[in-house]
Amino acid sequence: MTYDNDKRRRLLSRLGRGLAGTVPILALAAGGISLVDAEATPEAREGAWFLSSAYAEGGAEAQAEAQGEAEGEAAAEAEVESEAEAEGEAEGEGEAEGEAEGEAASAEAVRRPEGHVPAYSESGSNPAELLARGESLYYDTSLSGNGLACASCHGSDGNDIGYLATFAQPFPHRVAMADNQFGMNQVHADEMVQICMVAPMEAEPLAWGSEELTSLAAYVVEVQRRFAGESHDL
Ligand code: HEC
Repeated sequence: MTYDNDKRRRLLSRLGRGLAGTVPILALAAGGISLVDAEATPEAREGAWFLSSAYAEGGAEAQAEAQGEAEGEAAAEAEVESEAEAEGEAEGEGEAEGEAEGEAASAEAVRRPEGHVPAYSESGSNPAELLARGESLYYDTSLSGNGLACASCHGSDGNDIGYLATFAQPFPHRVAMADNQFGMNQVHADEMVQICMVAPMEAEPLAWGSEELTSLAAYVVEVQRRFAGESHDL
């Protein structure tokens, strides 16, 4: 199975359009994403295959393989290439060796900068306006580079999909994708938003302290509570 970056981009963008009328179609099972809607389009099925191979445990290796770029070059190089592309920068080129195991992308762009004090709360409640703004951004396809919105993969109308069981714990906590692809063994809500911005959304990270990042992170904190079956403000 060969997947180059162009094909992946086209695929995700078709997936995004295909999802417009058929959300929700994806759900994460223990080992990856599986389809839950029998009426999903062929593109979405193909996309689900891509997502499960890219994000399942150990998926970084599957991704390098799936990219089909290993021909005549080390798998590590293919991995670095795809990660650098996801970040929109070529950093990490010299780190190819250590990344053969799939340890992957630089966490620099997605980790809270030293001394950054976020303007949302992970332990208390957040203002209603912040949550309303976060919710509208969650459905906004213009945030991504591939036509997807957060809701394309994570569900709409309170039907939370695309999250693993670890999401039931309050932030900060371990997220498989953050660990596998960015080498971060636990993440805050705003860091997780940044990871989904640069990886599945194929976009630039949001500015630290921007109202977009603050409100999306605040919203995600409430989604986490809803997912865990706790009282929430959504
Ligand atoms: C193409 C699909 C896709 C899109 C679009 C997407 N995500 Fe994700 N998201 C994933 C996958 C896959 C995971 C990994 C699940 C894991 O490893 O626990 C994930 C994980 C997460 C988690 C972590 C759950 C936890 O356990 O803490 C959060 C929060 C999240 N996404 C928020 C967002 C937000 C906010 C956006 C939009 C800015 C977004 N996602 C866009 C696929 C997507």
